[in-house]
Amino acid sequence: MKFIIGNWKMNGNTDEKDALLKSLKNSRTKNKVVVCLPFTLLYGNDFGITLGAQDISEHPNGAYTGDISGQMLKDANVKYVIVGHSERRLYHKETNETTRAKATAAIKNGIIPVICVGETATDKNAGRTMSVVKKMLLESVPQKGEYIVAYEPRWAIGTGKTPTYEEIASVMETLHKALIGIKRENIALLYGGSVNQDNAKQIISIKNIDGLLVGGASLKSDTFLPIIKSIE
Ligand code: 13P
Repeated sequence: MKFIIGNWKMNGNTDEKDALLKSLKNSRTKNKVVVCLPFTLLYGNDFGITLGAQDISEHPNGAYTGDISGQMLKDANVKYVIVGHSERRLYHKETNETTRAKATAAIKNGIIPVICVGETATDKNAGRTMSVVKKMLLESVPQKGEYIVAYEPRWAIGTGKTPTYEEIASVMETLHKALIGIKRENIALLYGGSVNQDNAKQIISIKNIDGLLVGGASLKSDTFLPIIKSIE
């Protein structure tokens, strides 16, 4: 069983959500498909598809205008939440420390955090990819509880560019070894960044990869379903 997690980012409306979830329901995949929707669409799932959120407050409740707590997500039947996405790190100045606090808040509420790490183009060009992703991982993951780690090179997000399969394999090995080092060798590892129906099958076959985190191609069934079908 592989994870295929869609991240809608700040896109979509009720009709588009219903259309995608309906087509996913009819697709009967044996993989674990999750769709991470904007907060406003996290209600009334008639199609039985597992839903995720894209952010969570590190606080349990209180005077945090605009934030959404783990308790609220649990109440909305949310099962997964993306934390530490590079867009949160870039536009909201979220750090490894914030990411770890958010992941911990999710776990406390029975929600599985998908913790994102990934280097910038500058890091990559300076040959720092391995040290950067390892540090991000070790500083962002909580000490206890179930979580997933997604490797998303920032320069590969929404650009149509991906690392070579060898590059992905070596980052995955670095992450896997780092997780073994903290006695969490069973944590699932995902790849994200310009995944599409042409590269999904090959990426998923890379050693230590347990799934994919898909952005743009998860918005519509005609681009998301072929990804899911290609890795049956
Ligand atoms: P794209 O698949 O659009 O590159 O986005 C990847 C991503 O950021 C998923 O979280």
